[in-house]
Order: sequence, then structure tokens, then C-alpha cells
Amino acid sequence: MNFEENGFLILREIIKKEDLIKIRNEVTKSFFSQNKIKIIKNLDLNEAHKLVEQGNVKYLSMGYETKEINKKIKELSNKTLTAKISERINKKLTFEEGASIITLFPEELSGYNVHYHQDEDVKNKKPNRIHVITPLSEQKLTLIKLLDSTHNIGTFNHILFGPLIRIEDSRLEQYLKKEVTIDLNFGDVLIFYTSLIHKVEDNKNSDCSHWMLRFILKHD
Ligand SMILES: [Fe+2]
Repeated sequence: MNFEENGFLILREIIKKEDLIKIRNEVTKSFFSQNKIKIIKNLDLNEAHKLVEQGNVKYLSMGYETKEINKKIKELSNKTLTAKISERINKKLTFEEGASIITLFPEELSGYNVHYHQDEDVKNKKPNRIHVITPLSEQKLTLIKLLDSTHNIGTFNHILFGPLIRIEDSRLEQYLKKEVTIDLNFGDVLIFYTSLIHKVEDNKNSDCSHWMLRFILKHD
């Protein structure tokens, strides 16, 4: 696996579980206040969507981006994570403000239906922004799919698809054979260039919510 060639890399067991749990507690607080639900002590986030169901909320927000969450994620990144990733890919990296949480609730509560897309236009420049993603739940996360080595093939045509974007481009077909399913355990980190084609599958036939934290690291 070579980050520059493949455009992505998985770093196993790179974050301490207690550090993730601290952030999870912050996210839980935010989740309850945003959904106007009374806070229950020690609630497992995987169960949280059931409370929302009871509150008769149909579509849930896909992400949480608050100052407090950004601050906590930045602390985690600055502690040792950025340095560890820098060392692995041999690049000087800086944290970009705007870290957030992505929630993948069971499909019937979300209906996100995320298709393949790129998050950055790289027409005139080399990719230099990197997504950092790690699960906040103990369960294995296997919903992320990437197209290997598509980070420096240029920008595809996208269309707006509900609140999301998706690729609408005949060139996509030839890259589908490069599909890789990512599996992440608690403590593992996925990094990939924002220009790499990626998607997240709907959380189908599931009784569990997956939560991930994400932020961007930049190099020159
Ligand atoms: Fe994306």
C-alpha cells in the first residue's frame, strides 16, 4: 500500500480508545441537544437512534459540526495523531478547522443514498487535502467504498443529487473495477485524498448506528 499511488491508506490501531471515548461523550451531548432529547447517562450511541425514532423524527442530520466538537477533534489530532500520520506518509501536515461527525443511522431513518463522488476539484493542482476518518463505535465499520488510485485522474462531472453530489460521467464505469471496501475497527484510521472517488453505503438491514469523526489535514 502506497499513499501517493493509491490515494488512500489505513492505519491500524493508531488512536487510543480512551481518547475516542472522550470525543464520543462530547458528540453524545451534542446529539441530544440538537435532537431536543433529554440526556441519558451512559447511553450507547449505537442505541441513540431509537430515542430519535420515539421522538418521531424522520430524517436525521448526517453530520454534526459544532465549535466544541471541532475543538475536541483538533486536540486529538494535535496530541499525536497528526504526527503519526505525517511520519507514515512522509509529509508535513496541518489541521484544517471544520472537523465534524458523520452519522450513519439505519437506512430507514436516513435514506442518504450516497453515490460515488469527489470532494475536491483538482483540475489545476495536485491533491493536497486529506480526509481523516475514524469510527466512534466499537463495531466494525464496512460501509466506506473507494476507487483505488483515482485521486489524480482529474475532476469528474458531478450533479447535485438532493443535498448531496454524485458523479454523472461516462468515465466512471472504467474505474468501478478499482472498488475497494474499507473495514475499520475502533482505533483504526482511514486517510484518503479529497479528490479520490468515494462513497458510503446506506446502513441497510441494521439495528446499529455508525458514527465516525472526520477532519482534513493539508500538506504543501
Ligand atoms: Fe465525501
